[in-house]
Amino acid sequence: MFPADRPRRLRRTPALRRLVAQTSLEPRHLVLPMFVADGIDAPREISSMPGVVQHSLDSLRSAAVDAIAAGVGGLMLFGVPRAEDKDATGSAASDPDGILNRGLRTLRSELGVDAVVMADTCLDEFTDHGHCGVLDAHGAVDNDATLSRYVDMALAQADSGADLLGTSGMMDGQVGAIRSALDAAGRTDTGIIAYAAKYASAFYGPFREAVGSSLQGDRRTYQQDSANRREAQLETDLDVAEGADIVMVKPAMSYLDILREVADRSPVPVAAYQISGEYSMIVAAANNGWIDRDAAALESLVCIKRAGADVILTYFAVDIARTLSGTSS
Ligand code: PBG
Repeated sequence: MFPADRPRRLRRTPALRRLVAQTSLEPRHLVLPMFVADGIDAPREISSMPGVVQHSLDSLRSAAVDAIAAGVGGLMLFGVPRAEDKDATGSAASDPDGILNRGLRTLRSELGVDAVVMADTCLDEFTDHGHCGVLDAHGAVDNDATLSRYVDMALAQADSGADLLGTSGMMDGQVGAIRSALDAAGRTDTGIIAYAAKYASAFYGPFREAVGSSLQGDRRTYQQDSANRREAQLETDLDVAEGADIVMVKPAMSYLDILREVADRSPVPVAAYQISGEYSMIVAAANNGWIDRDAAALESLVCIKRAGADVILTYFAVDIARTLSGTSS
């Protein structure tokens, strides 16, 4: 007459649920993406990402100290050059005095070796056409010409103190080209966090405002098609073979199946990036009073962890780190 099995028994109290929870999320698993902009002396709001700002060098320094104090595992830095410093090849990306390299040196000198500092190794913030690479005579992204620009950028970022380079451009061979150039330069300790399975996504929308992107058109000739699964395996296998220290899946929330498959076969740690649009959807709904911001953010991150991420890049990193350690205000 009665159910023989009663799974609800282990859900009865918070203590029972805590005992049997199969996924743990800790502050150290979270990486905070940060934006540093040239030519500003106070933080600038990003309207499509409430709560996220473009930092000045000074505000970057203090926000980074706060983030590390909250226990986050690392920081991923993006540079926002002045419009007049953008050009066809993204020169400011490899210039030691370009904003991203100055930002990296600021973080490294402020935080010392105890904080993991990552750099976005991609040209799109720095090119006047907004693509992740340089263009050929027909306006198409030239894969191999782009690789030499990535190498210049990678060497400048390694010199500026980055621990891990985030190769987010989706050019073929980018990890191998950067790895061999780093090694040849004696930068054998600088690692690569490869955006291995990166899909073309409408959810990057708010990021375009965050970095003042000048992109016309889309990135579908280099980022993956969301309809495809096996391609993610090919991309991650190639990046691992080329020397990636960590592989990443991006976006995260609509790509948990891909994340699980990559996690099941990757010999190296796996990261996932909860991107700008994923952040902004939760924040917008919460600001309308439709969902609970912290609860929704935490749930989304636990699910990304459950799907196989060892490390999660998220704009919620500091808030959730504080929630997890019980120090939120
Ligand atoms: C490329 C890059 C992008 C993001 C991270 N690195 C933009 C893109 O591929 O269009 C997006 C991150 C986000 O949306 O939060 N440099």
